[in-house]
Amino acid sequence: MNLLAVAAGLVWLALYSVFTAIRRIRLENANHKRAILDELKTPDPHKRKFVGFFHPYCNAGGGGERVLWTAIAMLQRDEPEVISIVYSGDTDATKEQILSKVKARFDIDLSPQTLHFVFLNSRHLVEDSAWPRFTLLGQSLGSIYLAWEAMSKLIPDLFIDTMGYAFTFHVVRLLGQVPVGAYVHYPTISTDMLERVRSRKKWHTNSNAISSSGVLSKGKLLYYRLFMYYYANSLRQASFLMVNSSWTKNHVDSILQYTDPLLDALHLCTPLVFLRLLRPSQTPKSARIVCPPCDTREMAKFPLEGRERVILSVAQFRPEKDHAAQLHAFHSVLTSYPEYGNGNPGDSQVRLVLVGGSRNAEDAARVEGLRALAKELGIADHVEFVINASFPAMLNWLSRASIGLSTMVDEHFGINIVEFMAAGVIPVTHASGGPLNDIVVPFDGKPTGYHATSPETFAEAFHNVLTLPPEEDLALRERARTWAVQRFSEEEFEKGWNESGWRRWLPS
Ligand SMILES: *[C@@H]1O[C@H](CO)[C@@H](O)[C@H](O)[C@H]1NC(C)=O
Ligand SMILES: *[C@@H]1O[C@H](CO)[C@@H](O)[C@H](O)[C@H]1NC(C)=O
Ligand SMILES: *[C@@H]1O[C@H](CO)[C@@H](O)[C@H](O)[C@H]1NC(C)=O
Repeated sequence: MNLLAVAAGLVWLALYSVFTAIRRIRLENANHKRAILDELKTPDPHKRKFVGFFHPYCNAGGGGERVLWTAIAMLQRDEPEVISIVYSGDTDATKEQILSKVKARFDIDLSPQTLHFVFLNSRHLVEDSAWPRFTLLGQSLGSIYLAWEAMSKLIPDLFIDTMGYAFTFHVVRLLGQVPVGAYVHYPTISTDMLERVRSRKKWHTNSNAISSSGVLSKGKLLYYRLFMYYYANSLRQASFLMVNSSWTKNHVDSILQYTDPLLDALHLCTPLVFLRLLRPSQTPKSARIVCPPCDTREMAKFPLEGRERVILSVAQFRPEKDHAAQLHAFHSVLTSYPEYGNGNPGDSQVRLVLVGGSRNAEDAARVEGLRALAKELGIADHVEFVINASFPAMLNWLSRASIGLSTMVDEHFGINIVEFMAAGVIPVTHASGGPLNDIVVPFDGKPTGYHATSPETFAEAFHNVLTLPPEEDLALRERARTWAVQRFSEEEFEKGWNESGWRRWLPS
């Protein structure tokens, strides 16, 4: 009985300190806002609204960062009264350094007047290395703490996560009482991961020892089930959700539908009951695809006519790119149509050119293996490897090639394929993933490229392209370019944001 009283007292004390802390943070927020407006020397401070972007790795210079900076540039253009806040863990860089890197890397001009960085000190808590075991759980708890730090430095008027830290949503909604939204590149956990543990299949996050032992597997299943429950609950806190591809949409949509009645019922008798009660008025039923913008300005200038009979692959020499399949496909076309092997290079002879980066010893060994395979297939004289090509050298190949080849299975996106199309190179890709569903899709009811699955079908697609009558060849290249440039343009990106309805969540 005494023990129970002590426990109740401790719980009460813990809740009391949390609520006191929350109250203090909320009270101080007006000062935080004022300090930022003073620092930016903002005219008309009372008109300003704060939109916070949670992007702890904002200085990384990858595809996710292009999305972030393009979105902020859009806000600066369309919503001049908004102050964009970036929650960043890049404490080793200054605002000026980050902005000049954005300019150099993406050629995006941002105005420093309506942009402010809130630097976070606990980013190490979301790093893989901080959590060698239970990585998902550890990182998620870490992100909750990081969001707490962020909110204690500034509560924005609208919070947008652009890096996939959905577990921050509860903190922001509870502590900040402001709407949240997200642009999701990749689901933290997917329903098929759960299915795989359930059916005990081996997979990379599911090591052999675990899939062969029943008890461990049950434990892991429970872990994933709990995790999925909280992840789905977190995502449902969002007022609007955007995703970068149809692949991600399928996953996010199925997670939004995920329910677990048993866990729901259990929550009614714990202090976490608020998880059930705290729901925004309108949870989106599904996520909206907003394609990330690609910079295709350079390639879209290449001439469409006078292409060499070059089949071009642009891909790092990583195993999943499946370069061996490219050699087999090329071997198949030379076997079925030996005339493609005759003549001079640069003239009637067809060549396969593999442009790609080799990052380390494994990649280098893979390249050696591919060279050996080309010899073994008797096609080595027609195959050229271009390792670690510079960007201008790659552009040069894009301006000359006829066909762009990609053999990766279930690729989520494939920016190289967008680049092929913008450059006027006809894509021939594996019939799966982003290349099938998002990129090489009909435009105006007409095809923009080819899909294949086996060496023979790839070979047929090559043959089709190589024998197109000139006017059809030109029309296809033109169509592929128009589609890619338009579909992955900044304007289309902006339209997607507009249609996501995010503006409704700004305070009026
Ligand atoms: C979406 O994001 C994931 C994870 O960063 C990435 O692998 C994929 O290529 C992206 N898709 C698009 C369309 O950019
Ligand atoms: C390619 O670049 C990597 C590092 O970026 C380097 O280690 C490798 O040796 C280079 N390979 C060649 C063939 O130039
Ligand atoms: C998006 O909305 C803003 C504000 O209403 C408008 O100025 C802009 O032109 C829109 N952009 C597109 C591409 O529709």
